[in-house]
Amino acid sequence: MGKAIVISGTPGVGKTLVATRLASRLGLSYLNLSDLVVRESLYVGVDEVRGSLIIDEERLVSRLTELLSGSESDVIVDSHYGEVIPDEFVKTVFVLRLNPAVLYERLASRGWGKEKVRENVEAEILGICTYNALNEHPETKVCEVDVTNKEVDEVVEEIVNVLNNVKECEVWVDWLSNEALKDFITELLNTS
Ligand SMILES: Nc1ncnc2c1ncn2[C@@H]1O[C@H](COP(=O)(O)OP(=O)(O)OP(=O)(O)O)[C@@H](O)[C@H]1O
Ligand SMILES: [Mg+2]
Repeated sequence: MGKAIVISGTPGVGKTLVATRLASRLGLSYLNLSDLVVRESLYVGVDEVRGSLIIDEERLVSRLTELLSGSESDVIVDSHYGEVIPDEFVKTVFVLRLNPAVLYERLASRGWGKEKVRENVEAEILGICTYNALNEHPETKVCEVDVTNKEVDEVVEEIVNVLNNVKECEVWVDWLSNEALKDFITELLNTS
């Protein structure tokens, strides 16, 4: 069985807060893929438009293979592109989902440009991280957690309950069908 417990989700949903707290709660090591990419120069260039690094997927995967096959215990992996980890090394992927209207405010308050905020909020509305995870892993390994209005410890508790088979692992979040978000989504899509 795979060693990686992946905490995925759109930028800003709370992955790092949740993943670090989960790692200390379970006494497991914590691995942030973006930090690893920077630390070991596992990128091929810079996306000037997005202001982000273009990862060298081949080298990242071989490094992850090395790290995960050499690990005695499970590893909490924090990344919004956790789908790069080969399925055989993955135990479970938790995709944190956050109400897009809340995410919008959170990303705007980071001082990000309108386009960057919009692109990421749209990714959350569509559930891109869930989509990517389901493309690489069986549905039994992909679990969504709605973190909206929850304390970090509450989210950690939910994840622990799924890992202990106390709570069911499900893919269920659908912002597009949420009546309360209709006006927000319509306005977002009309202000390109
Ligand atoms: N459960 C929560 N309740 C309230 N605020 C939260 C919660 N989780 C995260 N936040 C807020 O959101 C911010 C972003 O959290 P965090 O850095 O963990 O997100 P992230 O998903 O790791 O982002 P990135 O993808 O950019 O690394 C935090 O600084 C905190 O202010
Ligand atoms: Mg983070």
